[in-house]
Amino acid sequence: MNSLFRRKHYTENSDKGQLNRVLGTWDIVFFGIAAIIGAGSFSSLGEAIFRGGPGVIILYLICGFACAFTALCYAEFASRIPTAGSAYTYAYASFGELIAWVIGWALIMEYSFGNIYVAFSWSDYFTSFMERIGIHIPDFLTCSYTEAKKAFLNQSTNAELVNAWTSAPVVGGLKIILDIPALIINGLITWLCYQGIKESKNFNNFFVILKLFVILLVIAVGIGFVNTGNWFPKAPGSDVGMFMPNGFAGVMSAVSGVFFAYIGFDAISVLSEETKNPQRDLPRGMLISLALCTVIYIVLTLVLTGVVDYKKFDGIGDPLSFIFDSSNLNIPWMEFIVSLIAIVAITTVLLVFQMGQPRIWMAMSRDGLLPKKFQEVHSKNKVPSFATIVTGFVVGVPILFTDKSFILDFTSIGTIFAFVLVCGGVLLLPNKEKIKGRFHLPYINGKYFFPLIFIGGLVFFYFYQPDFFRQLTNINDPKEGEFRLAILVYIAVNLVLCLLTFIKNLSLIPLIGLSSCLYLLTGMSHENWFWFGVWFAIGLVIYFLYGYRNSKLNREFKKVNP
Ligand code: ALA
Repeated sequence: MNSLFRRKHYTENSDKGQLNRVLGTWDIVFFGIAAIIGAGSFSSLGEAIFRGGPGVIILYLICGFACAFTALCYAEFASRIPTAGSAYTYAYASFGELIAWVIGWALIMEYSFGNIYVAFSWSDYFTSFMERIGIHIPDFLTCSYTEAKKAFLNQSTNAELVNAWTSAPVVGGLKIILDIPALIINGLITWLCYQGIKESKNFNNFFVILKLFVILLVIAVGIGFVNTGNWFPKAPGSDVGMFMPNGFAGVMSAVSGVFFAYIGFDAISVLSEETKNPQRDLPRGMLISLALCTVIYIVLTLVLTGVVDYKKFDGIGDPLSFIFDSSNLNIPWMEFIVSLIAIVAITTVLLVFQMGQPRIWMAMSRDGLLPKKFQEVHSKNKVPSFATIVTGFVVGVPILFTDKSFILDFTSIGTIFAFVLVCGGVLLLPNKEKIKGRFHLPYINGKYFFPLIFIGGLVFFYFYQPDFFRQLTNINDPKEGEFRLAILVYIAVNLVLCLLTFIKNLSLIPLIGLSSCLYLLTGMSHENWFWFGVWFAIGLVIYFLYGYRNSKLNREFKKVNP
């Protein structure tokens, strides 16, 4: 049992690699923005607004809050363990091998599978841009097989998807439907990552500037058309204007899409071996980029929901250009610019994630949990070569048979889970002495504060939303039952945390990060949990068949105790 939780001890020079140290604080901020702002804001924001109404802003605040506290925990780890591998490395130091493997496995959901969603969104924008300039790509070559099949079976109103299914050629009894633009962009990004970090950096900084420019332009042009009445639309079947027309459960059902927009600030922690001063630059870069993006999201959502009625965002995959189309503000030049630059904006996300995944695998391979091949570094380009190519396949192959909504949920649940473990990991870290010029997470004793905040919060909501609490135990309700059950579990877990904090004087900041990330998990449906469980089971089988035996720590242990 002990061997499952054997921990790796990192020193300043642990795993000194051969990667190029060329990145400074602002490069890291740029990489952060490159990874954070992408398909989440350019694409899944539409569906999130439709589900939650203008009230989805509250969810942006909750997610931003949870991510900020998680970022502080990441920053603490990054300043202690400046080696590539992100949350995986951190977990190896604090929880031990099994949990580290589990996190490494969950990070595949974030990096590789996240990129599948991003590649699909890229393809959506690319295809509609091509259409605008008069080039039509056949529908069956621009969407996934499952998406088209689902749309056809559900008699969806999405004409392109249904047409993809009905017009697709049949070879050997199988309809040929595949997302060619998504496959091509994945191939190009894999090639670029293979060329090396310096080339990727220059490419990245330029595109991030374009991305910020277009978002600020959307805000600047859109703000003049805001109708504050749109922020309080009438709920279905009611005459009263409401900020959350579908209730709070409606807002929470958008959690995957909203959270996805925040994923990425953690991705820069994998660049520690390419950062000049990782102990200082990584924490700074993470927090600055996250803060900037949070402000941008809130303002952007206020503008979008103020300009167009939230109900019109049903099925809209390009919300930022949608508000300027002829059925809304009717500003064709804005529609054109936004859809062109969105293609670029989304590309930077692909790049950062595609660079992150091989570096995590490289760290896992160095620890013996993956075959040696994964740590192979290209002699000239100085990038993990084999791992970069494998990432290209891990993203590319599922593009052929998954669909966007499944992948979005799958990515978000895996990432939130990894965040929960990172915040939990910081709670287990021993105190360290302060070194000037490095980030330090301030220790605030949570003994009284945490129970006070949590129980105080419960009492506040009890009086603020008495109906919600009165119905909390009615978990058979078809609409809200699942959410209520999750909230009950959440309350129980937090009460245990309050008790542990009281006894063990746990640190307040990671506790708040942990509790708020756990809260985000309450928005996940039972299907998400099911697939998450399946993914985990597969991961555990691989660990026991390979990693457990080949782990470096295991081999060292065997040497000493033959
Ligand atoms: N946050 C990233 C995006 O929105 C993953 O594309």
